[in-house]
Amino acid sequence: MTTPQPEHHPRIGVWIAGAHGDIAATLITGVSALAMSLVPTTGLTTVMPPFDRLPLLDPRDIRFGGIDVRSSSLASAAKSLEERSHTVDRDLLDAVGVRLKEIEQDILSRPDVVWDPSAPANRPPTSLVEVIEAVKEQLRAFRAKHALERVIVVNLSSVQPTPVSSPLTESLRGLEQLIADNRKDLVTSSACYAYAALVERCPYINFTPNVGTRWGSIAELAKRNRIPFCGDDGKTGETLVKTALAHMFACRNLQVMSWEGVNLLGNNDGRALENPLNREMKLRHKERVLDGILGYSPHVGVSINYVPSLGDWKTAWNLIHFRGFLGVPMTMQFIWQGCDSVLAAPLVFDLVRLVDFACCQGEYGPLRHLAVFFKSPLGVAEMDLQSQYRMLLHYAEQHLQNPAE
Ligand SMILES: NC(=O)c1ccc[n+]([C@@H]2O[C@H](COP(=O)([O-])OP(=O)(O)OC[C@H]3O[C@@H](n4cnc5c(N)ncnc54)[C@H](O)[C@@H]3O)[C@@H](O)[C@H]2O)c1
Repeated sequence: MTTPQPEHHPRIGVWIAGAHGDIAATLITGVSALAMSLVPTTGLTTVMPPFDRLPLLDPRDIRFGGIDVRSSSLASAAKSLEERSHTVDRDLLDAVGVRLKEIEQDILSRPDVVWDPSAPANRPPTSLVEVIEAVKEQLRAFRAKHALERVIVVNLSSVQPTPVSSPLTESLRGLEQLIADNRKDLVTSSACYAYAALVERCPYINFTPNVGTRWGSIAELAKRNRIPFCGDDGKTGETLVKTALAHMFACRNLQVMSWEGVNLLGNNDGRALENPLNREMKLRHKERVLDGILGYSPHVGVSINYVPSLGDWKTAWNLIHFRGFLGVPMTMQFIWQGCDSVLAAPLVFDLVRLVDFACCQGEYGPLRHLAVFFKSPLGVAEMDLQSQYRMLLHYAEQHLQNPAE
């Protein structure tokens, strides 16, 4: 039996691109369950000291909405988590079922938003301008319908191929020209979400490896509209362990010769990553993290294999071949077996809370203090997990000492 909850009007919208995906379904189910006090807060960073002393969003303050190219439903995405991954149980699904149905009314199904760079520019199914206008309109309607103070856009859409880089994406004028010319070969749907969000003065979180947030045009727009954004690519599994462990080798002066990783995953993300074009950026993010921590470049190999029977349960096997005193070679291996969506969803909720807080403080542009949450943090060279966490602690402590008026 669910305890009846007092009426609470949500004040912040969280609008998700990829709202029918595994992370979105886990996030919405989890935050709905938290709002009903049905589950503990394990896995959330922002409930720990000193963050728990900041005035961060309550789960009940959030109203979800979004867009997906799949015309399934949140309820069926959540049910499939129960059946395939066993990460949520039937009782929990029953308890949040009504909420999921309500939220579904604010999720737009747009199969035409799939980014297909091979579509001829003069005969596209939906032009970039049309996609952006639809997103902007939906953001405005969502905000108005629920009388929301602000809407935070979170990109949880599938991995996409990385377009060739163009100098035009480096200025807002150039990007707007590319959009007007319908250059789908250069401007992806993820970049459209970033652009539309910032035009509508919505903070933007890029949890995917997809492009957009690093473009000069997006930084220019965020600065002009004084809106915060952050990314790229949530740090949830193998890279999380790597960026924690590498420090140990560095401070013992153990020379890492090779660090090889094999990732096996069976969810939709794994299926999308099977395509070499889609996984290019993800591999680049995973491979780059060690150099800054170690101070040199060992041999690094990362592979991603799709194994459907594993579902949302990912296995990452890493082999670290290193040299110690007297030049003696040694080996360390680890196996990480984690449920991808269960690791990712609390991070997204932490990010939403911290981005909302940054808005309340009048902060804008790339939020560097959120580096600890990302494989490839914007504007931060520091990759060591503990140093990144210290940046976040420092930020919180500064705000606790000097609270905004
Ligand atoms: N799970 C993790 O630990 C983790 C870590 C870092 C990054 N990510 C990234 O997060 C994203 C989501 O992961 P997931 O496991 O939920 O994947 P998923 O495949 O379950 O969900 C992605 C959803 O995006 C939708 N989609 C595809 N193209 C779209 C578009 N153009 N617009 C709107 N929706 C679109 C798909 O239909 C799908 O429902 C992926 O890009 C993944 O690489 C995941």
